[in-house]
Amino acid sequence: MAHDPTTAFERNRTLWDDRVAVHRRDATGFYEVEDFLAGKDILGPIEAAEVGDVRGLRVAHLQCHFGMDSICLARRGAIVTGLDFSPLAIAEARELARETGTDVQFVEGNVYEARALLEGAFDLVYTTWGTITWLPDVTAWAQVVASLLKPGGSLYFVDGHPMMQCLEMIDGQIVLRFDWRTPIDRPIVESSGTSYTGDKVAHLESHEWIHPMSDMLNAFIGAGLRLDWIREHTRLAWPYFPNMHRDEEGMYRLTEGHPRLPLALSLKATKERARG
Ligand SMILES: C[S@@+](CC[C@H](N)C(=O)[O-])C[C@H]1O[C@@H](n2cnc3c(N)ncnc32)[C@H](O)[C@@H]1O
Repeated sequence: MAHDPTTAFERNRTLWDDRVAVHRRDATGFYEVEDFLAGKDILGPIEAAEVGDVRGLRVAHLQCHFGMDSICLARRGAIVTGLDFSPLAIAEARELARETGTDVQFVEGNVYEARALLEGAFDLVYTTWGTITWLPDVTAWAQVVASLLKPGGSLYFVDGHPMMQCLEMIDGQIVLRFDWRTPIDRPIVESSGTSYTGDKVAHLESHEWIHPMSDMLNAFIGAGLRLDWIREHTRLAWPYFPNMHRDEEGMYRLTEGHPRLPLALSLKATKERARG
């Protein structure tokens, strides 16, 4: 990376440590923790439809938060390692794996150090909803993803659309707020007293980056990842704009009649096999 983002990582880790207990308590029901503990597969409808059959696959789940998706992937038959840089998230993830009797390995560490921290090569790198916005350098991230994959292994990614991240809603109107590309050394610094779950949280600083789609795609090309498909979606996993409504599958949409825009982006990219 061209710039040392240590301070941003430290501030973000404090913010995520703070959110773990609140999200695990799940007072708003956003995370469906009780249903999950009772055995429900809580993968969202987009990833559930797109990720495919994971039985027997070695999966690296990057930025796994407190591990519920990692455990759901393991329940589907994958051999899963979850990684997150929040020690409190990893502790809670291990506790949930114990409570649910699921065999998942959880590793504490920064995504950019994942190759050194995780053993062996993976069939699938899985990373969803609220991930690369916390990462300053998408080119370095793609290199890490590629380094984790076996030849022929794939990345599955779904997250908020970079176009949406430039926007915010003021008085019911969607307006342009942020530049479309955030410089590595000038992250967007904000502080909010409410988590995306609707829970009250401490006003801690977040440091985030918007990565244009072309930067992502060029990062994959540079890392030797071939794009299998890419899709845009008009719903997403959290209420980014204030007046969104929750659909029957728990996803958030703009109100009826509002001109639609892509709110989420999903893709699969595969590591090229060596030509010989
Ligand atoms: C929005 S959450 C991911 C949510 C997850 N998909 C879920 O549904 O629970 C973002 C996670 O990224 C982690 N994170 C942020 N920056 C990171 C970094 N540089 N390395 C590792 N983990 C990071 C945070 O600790 C947090 O758990």
